[in-house]
Amino acid sequence: MTKIAVAKGDGIGPELMDAVLTIFKAADVPLEYEFVEMGKWVFDKGYSNGMTPAAQETIESLGILFKGPMETPKGKGVKSVNVTARKTWNTYANKRTFQTLHGVDTVFSKAGIPIDITIVRENIEDTYGGIEHMLTHDVALGRRFITRPGSMQLIKYAFEMAKKEGAKRITCGHKSNIMKMTDGLFLEVFYKVAKEYPELNADDVIVDDLCMKLVSRPDLFDVVVLTNLQGDIVSDLCAGLVGGLGFAPSANIGDHICIFEAVHGTAPDIAGKNIANPTALLLSGFGMLRHLGLMEKSAMIENALLYTLESGVHTGDFGDRSTPSLNTTEFATAIINNFGKLPIHHPKPAIPNHYVTPTHFMLNKNPMLESKEMENEEIIGVDMFIESNEQPQIIADKCLKHTLDIFKLVNISNRGTQVWPKGSVFTNLVNQYHIRFESIGEIPVTQIEILELYKRMIQDYKVCSTELLNTWDGKKTYSLSQGQ
Ligand code: NAI
Repeated sequence: MTKIAVAKGDGIGPELMDAVLTIFKAADVPLEYEFVEMGKWVFDKGYSNGMTPAAQETIESLGILFKGPMETPKGKGVKSVNVTARKTWNTYANKRTFQTLHGVDTVFSKAGIPIDITIVRENIEDTYGGIEHMLTHDVALGRRFITRPGSMQLIKYAFEMAKKEGAKRITCGHKSNIMKMTDGLFLEVFYKVAKEYPELNADDVIVDDLCMKLVSRPDLFDVVVLTNLQGDIVSDLCAGLVGGLGFAPSANIGDHICIFEAVHGTAPDIAGKNIANPTALLLSGFGMLRHLGLMEKSAMIENALLYTLESGVHTGDFGDRSTPSLNTTEFATAIINNFGKLPIHHPKPAIPNHYVTPTHFMLNKNPMLESKEMENEEIIGVDMFIESNEQPQIIADKCLKHTLDIFKLVNISNRGTQVWPKGSVFTNLVNQYHIRFESIGEIPVTQIEILELYKRMIQDYKVCSTELLNTWDGKKTYSLSQGQ
């Protein structure tokens, strides 16, 4: 019997987990459960990462975590235990499947437009590094990391999974028209990997256009790959297309540890009332059973679920409001009572051998050593972010005194908008400026020379942060300023 770790979570988590495990028990699913302490209530007991050391050890030794949602206080305070778990165990891919379910009425089901979309979201990087600073009292800065090895790991998983599951199309959602370095890198890796999969139709869409297309023709999409934050938003959008968060499952895939959970949160508004919809957690459970090779059990329960939904049985959050809704426990019992039945209307009844175990592979080298350092890497300048309430021309005059015959002042911007040498009188200024210095003639400079410039600048300003300006083989590796 396979043993897995189970964390019931906070809010509606325990009642949903109980319902799903009752269904598994009734189906004789050959799993043993080790319940672990994880969630908001564990933070409250004084464990700063939201889990006890014993829970961590159990999850790391068993490799599979089936979890309920966990609460994260908004704004200031503790970090999300969900994000911590994904990062600690390097579950780099978040796979979320969204499909039309008969009995779950949506605009699209009523229009006869079937949906079967899988979102593969990068799960570690991006703004989820949570590296943020207040640069001045008025200005907060967040860093966004997109790495070549991280993108490679995720995108290879997505292509391999798409191929094994018989997908036809794989689409990269991105915003590389604006974020040329970060999303540009992600897109570059996507097309590099795509060359190895000629059988898949690989294309890309700008993320805002993707959202518009998803809400107008969702049936045209198959597998969609996205960076972390964009993937988070787009997957909730897709949940809306198929009837809401009650129908959105997810799998966090890593090479050693996988976490299966619903997309939704702890639903504090309905917690403790035994009325939440267990379908998303149950669908996540099917992903886990298939991952563990328990195809027949998964298909049997899935067909019972599909039959139950088709027959009009529903919890309070969906379905025909003119018929009474079942509570969580009654809904689970209804599914159990339908074991052995097959859906009539669903286009794809679950077939045990239809599914494949999610791709589980290791890169054959340290993925963090994807690129060799470039030989011709030079520093040709520096960006300084300074605090100031002065007008741009006054700042420029002071900066120009400090350039040491080595640097030239290229540009000053405020909130990313150029304010010197040219600017617009309509620009509203905040008290933080971005000053770009490049070397005269763009010849290489040393960090000591940068330090000399820094020492001079701090006579006039508080320098909040700096970034070196590099070239690789003569090519600038930073976004250009307006007019540059
Ligand atoms: P939420 O998903 O908990 O709730 C949003 C709305 O959907 C609420 O009206 C809720 O009643 C409803 N809902 C959610 N799941 C449902 C279900 N199974 N059946 C019926 N209705 C359902 O999102 P919210 O309110 O933004 O977050 C609440 C807490 O959950 C926060 O602390 C958040 O950080 C946490 N959260 C945890 C996640 C996880 O553990 N993976 C994911 C998302 C949020």
